[in-house]
Amino acid sequence: MKGVVLAGGLGTRLGALTSVTNKHLFPVYNQPMIYYPIQTLVNAGIHNIMIVTGGNSAGDFLRLLGNGKTFGLNHLNYTYQEGEGGIAEALSLVEHFAADDPVCVILGDNILEKNIRNAVDAYERQRHGAKILLKKVSDPRRFGVPELVGDRVVHIEEKPKVPKSQYAVVGVYMYDAAVYDIIRTLKPSARGELEISDVNNAYIERGAMTWEELDGWWSDAGTFESLLRASNLVAQTADKLESFDGAKISANV
Ligand code: G1P
Repeated sequence: MKGVVLAGGLGTRLGALTSVTNKHLFPVYNQPMIYYPIQTLVNAGIHNIMIVTGGNSAGDFLRLLGNGKTFGLNHLNYTYQEGEGGIAEALSLVEHFAADDPVCVILGDNILEKNIRNAVDAYERQRHGAKILLKKVSDPRRFGVPELVGDRVVHIEEKPKVPKSQYAVVGVYMYDAAVYDIIRTLKPSARGELEISDVNNAYIERGAMTWEELDGWWSDAGTFESLLRASNLVAQTADKLESFDGAKISANV
């Protein structure tokens, strides 16, 4: 299983904060935002990782992360997304890197408290199709929201005005190599982007999607409120998070 961290986009919801730099370089409590999703992949046992960046300050990712020594890695892969074509378009750029292997994709502004290794292991056993993680939230309208019939996800709606459940789709997705053909069939949404929810709906229509409820807290960090919330959550639990110390990381994986 290969890992992908999506860290492009213009971060326009953060106003002047992102006018000269990339939001994924911002601090979330005591670490740059992008450290958290990389750590999440490494903690789940995924060591072959590609960073997709774009927008402002793309070169700073290389300066900050190098070959991933902070995470106990020997190598990191990078690619560049031109413009702001959306999450699914960013994902299409990793097709060559993935080379038919399944991928675990994490959004660069998603901060998770707990290890997702069990979900990743379950997906490895599933072998085909896709897996998503869901979390109950107080404001589902900000997210992709699943409609559930029994325990089956029948559809995902992106930022619905009237959400069909209390769940949000977490920014962690596991896909097989069919995902690139699916992305090639997508049309831009009203906001002009290729939506990851449309990718997920294609898997749901094929009967090839599974889901799990995420354990522990989760926050995105792409708005002023969620950026502050993410920092506060990390600050409150910093002593319990698996650390960024390379030696300790290798002991954990
Ligand atoms: C994206 C996805 C959404 C998902 C969210 C998780 O939204 O489009 O489905 O629930 O990430 O953070 P964004 O906030 O990038 O618009």
